[in-house]
Amino acid sequence: MRPLSAPTIRLCSLLSLPSLILAAASFDCSDIVKDRIRFNLKPLGGPHVVHWIETEELITHNHTYTIDICQPLKRTKGVPADEECPNGARVCGIDYVTGKNDNTSRIEHVVPIAGDFIHSTAGWDPKWQLLKNSGSHADADREGLLIEFNGGKFPFNDKKGVPQKAMIEMVCDKDRSGLEGDEEDDRPKEDGDEKEKRDDEGEEKGEEGEKKNKSLTFVSYKQEGDPAVGVLRLEWKTKYACEDAVNNPDLNPKDGWGFFTWFLIILFLCISAYLIFGSWLNYNRYGARGWDLLPHGDTIRDIPYLVKDWGRRVVSTIQGPGSRGGYSAV
Ligand SMILES: *[C@@H]1O[C@H](CO)[C@@H](O)[C@H](O)[C@H]1NC(C)=O
Ligand SMILES: *[C@@H]1O[C@H](CO)[C@@H](O)[C@H](O)[C@H]1NC(C)=O
Ligand SMILES: *[C@@H]1O[C@H](CO)[C@@H](O)[C@H](O)[C@H]1NC(C)=O
Repeated sequence: MRPLSAPTIRLCSLLSLPSLILAAASFDCSDIVKDRIRFNLKPLGGPHVVHWIETEELITHNHTYTIDICQPLKRTKGVPADEECPNGARVCGIDYVTGKNDNTSRIEHVVPIAGDFIHSTAGWDPKWQLLKNSGSHADADREGLLIEFNGGKFPFNDKKGVPQKAMIEMVCDKDRSGLEGDEEDDRPKEDGDEKEKRDDEGEEKGEEGEKKNKSLTFVSYKQEGDPAVGVLRLEWKTKYACEDAVNNPDLNPKDGWGFFTWFLIILFLCISAYLIFGSWLNYNRYGARGWDLLPHGDTIRDIPYLVKDWGRRVVSTIQGPGSRGGYSAV
């Protein structure tokens, strides 16, 4: 079964106003709108990993950040709960430490950076703006989107923990899918469904991807502002952050449910509704039964005869009067 396509979802949300209101408050990676510009970052969904290697005198930190812009991170099978971020995390940092003369690493910190954590009062409060409007001079002539995810805290269970957030700069680069050099977190996840293979993944990560540098890169992680907030900054170069991407058919392959399919479905629904309502009316008002229940029952009953008649006429037209019944003109 195909996932619901965008038109379906839009149709459904039109039908149910409450969900429309909810949708306004949430973050849909496949339909991010800012200043009337629409972005679809769905192809970049899934857990992606970047590293920040920090070398100290005696130890090396391998800070491993995992991010999924489309849905909460899933738990990995067989990994203890305290070695991963709490449920609801969208961005998670894990600090692996290796001693100088050591070849095994241990986890020093787990830093929930952003997400809609169940056991937290802080919402994840996703925000997004166009890079050119973000107020920084460096971004003034860059095309793309700045996404902010909040809700983290470190230490997580400490009232005085430092709030955390992630700032992801999605930068337009027409030559990149965004998956070049990608490191995916493809360990088996707890909820069973093995990682969904994206069908475009192979080609995009393929040979050409190997030659280029990674598209998703670590920029910085430090405490910023006062009161201090731990801010993880990432940069993601991708064609999906280009302002015309959604309207560009090359980047946005049509899904199978064309206009015509929708037209047929809606037509069918309308006819069904008409027949059902009509029957009900006939039943209640006129006490109709059987064929008489159907609105225009007579016409419908006659359809086979009409079709047969029409068919006969067509046949005789095709055969022409000349060949009929052996009376050939001599
Ligand atoms: C950091 O950890 C990742 C996976 O845990 C590993 O692939 C990578 O090589 C490590 N980097 C360094 C410099 O240790
Ligand atoms: C790493 O440690 C294992 C045992 O824990 C040892 O067998 C192996 O030789 C070590 N490798 C290196 C490169 O030190
Ligand atoms: C990749 O990055 C390295 C250094 O980080 C740089 O020297 C090189 O030119 C980059 N390659 C491409 C194709 O951008």
